[in-house]
Amino acid sequence: MFKAITRLNTLGLRRTLATSAQEQRLKTFQIYRWNPDTPEIQPKMESYQIDLNQCGPMVLDALLKVKNEHDASLTFRRSCREGICGSCAMNIGGTNTLACLCKIDQDASKDLKIYPLPHMFVVKDLVPDLTHFYKQYKSIQPYLQRDTLPTDGRENLQSIEDRAKLDGLYECILCACCSTSCPSYWWNQQEYLGPAVLMQAYRWLIDSRDEATKIRKEMLQNSMSLYRCHTIMNCAKTCPKGLNPGRAIAEIKKQLAFD
Ligand code: SF4
Ligand code: SF4
Ligand code: FES
Repeated sequence: MFKAITRLNTLGLRRTLATSAQEQRLKTFQIYRWNPDTPEIQPKMESYQIDLNQCGPMVLDALLKVKNEHDASLTFRRSCREGICGSCAMNIGGTNTLACLCKIDQDASKDLKIYPLPHMFVVKDLVPDLTHFYKQYKSIQPYLQRDTLPTDGRENLQSIEDRAKLDGLYECILCACCSTSCPSYWWNQQEYLGPAVLMQAYRWLIDSRDEATKIRKEMLQNSMSLYRCHTIMNCAKTCPKGLNPGRAIAEIKKQLAFD
């Protein structure tokens, strides 16, 4: 009797193993690799096969699986895994987006290519150098500026209508997907501020509590900072948060034109 049960269990286990092997859905992820410690080796694409049945649904899940199970040296940024921190921005299947919000195409026969954000210097693998991007953000002075004290001596109040004007602007997580998809930013990155930073410039321009409007406008009144935008709208198309930096830029241009 005992022997029979053991045999049954073994058969069952074999069957389970056979089924799980059959059910493997291997998908190839081609990932950009470059290591600054070996600069003599050219950047290259490396392929990793992931069983979709053993992987979470998002591209970030696949990247974590590659790092945990295939190659611990694969380097990428991530933190929140829910589209809030903006650190997992990269180019996935030809589109700039967030790896944690990007679903894996479940067609295992199609390879997926993953690159760092385009037209940026690369720190390592999928990590772009955002130093200049952050410097540009700092240059627009992204904080409330006032000379007068609040009327109640405590808070800078804002009407519900004025607060609503910031909707669609304040949600930006500065992931840089839009700026790095903008052809004007690719070619004029040193001087053109790009869609992400300009949208934040607009957010402060129209904040009813801010009193630095004149200086903010003066900072943009030159041929490069703002006017390199040619309304190509790649920025709005790619934003993983569904925002429209192109429209914000058009609004700034309108404000400057009617000054
Ligand atoms: S506008 Fe969208 S794409 Fe651009 S930085 Fe903000 S969240 Fe990212
Ligand atoms: S609309 Fe302006 S900022 Fe947006 S992609 Fe086009 S040129 Fe770049
Ligand atoms: S991990 Fe934070 S936005 Fe993707």
